[in-house]
Amino acid sequence: MKLSHRITHITGGGSDGWDVFYKARRMIADGVPVTELTIGEHDIGTSHAILEAMHASAMGGHTGYAMVPGTHALRKSVAARIAARTGVPTTADNILITPGGQAALFAAHTAVCSPGDTAVYIDPYYATYPGTIRGAGGVPKAIVTSPDTAFQPTAEALTQATKGATSLLVNTPNNPTGVVYSAQTLQAIAEACKENDLWLISDEVYDTQVWEGAHVSPRSLPGMAERTLVVGSMSKSHAMTGSRVGWICGPADAIAQIINLATHTTYGVAGYIQDAADFALNQGETAEEEVSAPFRRRRALSMQALEGQNVVRAVPAQGAMYVMLDIRATGMSGEEFANALLDAEHIAVMPGESFGQAAAGHVRVAMTIADDQYVDALSRLIAFASTRAGAAP
Ligand SMILES: Cc1ncc(COP(=O)(O)O)c(C=O)c1O
Repeated sequence: MKLSHRITHITGGGSDGWDVFYKARRMIADGVPVTELTIGEHDIGTSHAILEAMHASAMGGHTGYAMVPGTHALRKSVAARIAARTGVPTTADNILITPGGQAALFAAHTAVCSPGDTAVYIDPYYATYPGTIRGAGGVPKAIVTSPDTAFQPTAEALTQATKGATSLLVNTPNNPTGVVYSAQTLQAIAEACKENDLWLISDEVYDTQVWEGAHVSPRSLPGMAERTLVVGSMSKSHAMTGSRVGWICGPADAIAQIINLATHTTYGVAGYIQDAADFALNQGETAEEEVSAPFRRRRALSMQALEGQNVVRAVPAQGAMYVMLDIRATGMSGEEFANALLDAEHIAVMPGESFGQAAAGHVRVAMTIADDQYVDALSRLIAFASTRAGAAP
């Protein structure tokens, strides 16, 4: 039977650069001890205190249908957190609770793009972006950045690419590069949106993982709150990836319309998950810092491990749980390098090509294993690259 164009074209066809990831999974299933540095999954689980709150809520009876927009308590807590962090007045009416940031990305694009509208995003990009835009009926258009500008989009590229478009999707701190957008880049993003009358969809799921400076939400820039939908999530900030709880924050009238979409798609998020998320947010910043601390530490360890050689270079990164490594000195593509590293050293990393064309010749390393194993894996990766580059290890 024929399936819809929308569903059969969601991936855009062709190789998606995830072959190395699946090969690593097969090797692990076959009993090969692979060091897994591919996906953004913490090596700690959700804290016991959060799980206890979840259990208490479920046992207390919060297992029926929850309010579709989210419980008032959680919407209020998310709004208060955003207001405190950004200075932008935010109330529960500005918040829709979603099953994770991914559902928020889909709902945000569905909300602003009519079929055929151009939705711009930045390359390198989080792997689901183009498919999410297609699934929502939009036409994805990439701004391909360059390692020479630390993968930050230029003002000129932003203004040009967004002419005639409906939305611009940005992500800072960035997956896969770890780059945090500079004040200048954020300003250029805001200018392009205002000049070309665009919605900004701002993916801020890594907002607690900033190693230098502070996270600035573009919604807080002048004239941006009325045209910005912020995508947030408990996944990365509270190690709650499996709980599937996130949000969209935006103008109250837009949120009211997106609630109609939620009514007809997800019908909300489990009440006991929302109660656990509310409990987690009310633990304050110290609890968030505990979750992000291992990545801050491992990012410093990465910089130390990379000293004293010039075959593998780190993209100057200030945030997120990844380091992007430039391995072009080996003469290999990211995909070739990741494949060969997996075969020779049983270390699995993501080829830069999995995230678009801009990060070709790079690999993304997730800092998601214990410090000593992480340093060991990185040293072996560098030694392997040095051999391949013909340099002394
Ligand atoms: C940039 C970015 N956005 C959104 C998501 C989706 O997160 P979740 O759906 O778990 O909230 C991820 C997950 O890795 C991500 O890296």
